[in-house]
Amino acid sequence: MVMVNQAEEKIVCPVSGTFPHGPCTYAEILEHLDLGIIVLDTNNEEVIFHNMAFETMLEGSDEPIDYNSISTLFLQDMGKGNVSDAFGKAQALHYKNKLLGYTAYFMSHGFIVILIRDITESARLESIAEAVNAMENITYIFSGIRHELGNPINSIKMTLSVLKKNLGRYSRNTVHQYVDRTLAEITRVEYLLKSLKSFSMFENPSIQNIDLSEFMDLFQALVGKDLEKNGITIEVILSLNAQWVRADPRALQQVMLNLIANAADSLEGREDPTITITTQKKNNFIWLCVEDNGVGIPADDQKNLFKPFYTTKSNGTGLGLAIAKKMLAKMNSRIGIESREEVGTKVTISIPEGRRKDA
Ligand SMILES: Nc1ncnc2c1ncn2[C@@H]1O[C@H](COP(=O)(O)OP(=O)(O)OP(=O)(O)O)[C@@H](O)[C@H]1O
Ligand SMILES: [Mg+2]
Repeated sequence: MVMVNQAEEKIVCPVSGTFPHGPCTYAEILEHLDLGIIVLDTNNEEVIFHNMAFETMLEGSDEPIDYNSISTLFLQDMGKGNVSDAFGKAQALHYKNKLLGYTAYFMSHGFIVILIRDITESARLESIAEAVNAMENITYIFSGIRHELGNPINSIKMTLSVLKKNLGRYSRNTVHQYVDRTLAEITRVEYLLKSLKSFSMFENPSIQNIDLSEFMDLFQALVGKDLEKNGITIEVILSLNAQWVRADPRALQQVMLNLIANAADSLEGREDPTITITTQKKNNFIWLCVEDNGVGIPADDQKNLFKPFYTTKSNGTGLGLAIAKKMLAKMNSRIGIESREEVGTKVTISIPEGRRKDA
């Protein structure tokens, strides 16, 4: 805010002064800005300046532009001194049918300057854009659910209709096959419903300090047998200075299960299938990497990985990574994937560093 022309020392009033090369005053410039400006003198409780733009913004108001009404409108939460954190921060208020964005500054000698913009239109456009965005996401998710539930239900319906028509003719064995097919489809629906449930689980994670070496021992015991059965070697290399993280252990376990399942799927039929888990400390985060030497992901597909229902598997829901990302975000953690086709995939999650429990 221009208050004092120190070089010339010609300014007498905070908002008026003479430029060295002409008659134009600061007040004249301020008058023509489309930014509402008002200056208050808190010592004498006076409005000492306001420009045209400010008057236009308050159009339709019966309130006088005086010290009390202006402070009630804009400074209510701030206190009058420069102690308040609210000074210098962008705020907004509804006034008549307008939305006004404003920032108040506490200047020297007890002056307060308030800069105001009419943000009604931009806020309206923003909220429309937001609504469209949310609707697009919901439509996308609904069409995914419709598709995921629709397929098995259609298949169940067809199988049962055929069975009903031919019940008298089919052998006991064939009837069994039809019933098994129906049960398999129902299992698929159940799997989908279970995955959808994890979307809302851990909404409020219980974040605690986790010892990664303890966590990985338990985790290896959980997945080791399955991996071994499929001929997959798992290597866990933990860095000594990256032992503690802050996370919800159950949510972290679920994320890791998803990543290991994906890695294991990508290793089917590969030579020397291996999953390597490593940790590393970077600033205040611990990077936990799960790397496989599987089929990899084509560059074009990599942008889709976190989209719900994106899957390349005949029995996948495509929810694994979407859920993992959401759970990690709830724990202030992030996930990233690097992959090269026919070379392998490396998933890195960065988790806030924790502290030894007894520290
Ligand atoms: N380690 C990996 N190697 C190769 N492709 C992967 C890997 N991880 C994920 N993908 C690809 O990303 C897709 C989405 O993964 P995501 O875990 O979200 O769903 P999904 O595994 O297909 O289904 P679900 O998790 O329900 O079993 C997979 O279908 C696969 O194409
Ligand atoms: Mg998966």
